[in-house]
Amino acid sequence: MRLLTPTGNKRFNELIGFLCITLAVLIALALLSYSPKDASFNVSAAAIDGSPARACLTLAAQIDGCEVRTVESLAPSAGRLGILQAAFKRNHALQCGFCTAGILMSCADYLKRVPDPTETQVREMLSGHLCRCTGYTPIVAAVLDVAALRNKINESIKKEPEHA
Ligand code: FES
Repeated sequence: MRLLTPTGNKRFNELIGFLCITLAVLIALALLSYSPKDASFNVSAAAIDGSPARACLTLAAQIDGCEVRTVESLAPSAGRLGILQAAFKRNHALQCGFCTAGILMSCADYLKRVPDPTETQVREMLSGHLCRCTGYTPIVAAVLDVAALRNKINESIKKEPEHA
């Protein structure tokens, strides 16, 4: 590899060449060892076989034959919002929407695993996301809103007398 530098220093050129090759090898190794299922949700979130993954870092060949769900899967039908999406709208939990798809998918997955989270737990869960607009408080409120609503529904189902 021959690089042109303002100084024309051969040792400098060799060092730059070595660093470029090393960087290329490290990137290749990182890509080969990366599994999309290991990643936490972020901006470009999807659920691959039910597990959170970053769609932007996932090669199509890695998910051949897998079930892939995106944020659209949270809606019961076209033109209707799912319970979590409705809570986001109600609590003003999105502004520009850049982060929203990823956060919605992450929250949906989290609420399946932790149906009655505390505010602190929700904030910890969101720590892998970057929202530049909301300050997170409305997002946390929306998640807690959904948890409370689901728990209320579950309680009323338990209290309902059985019909003979
Ligand atoms: S709503 Fe704009 S980044 Fe989250």
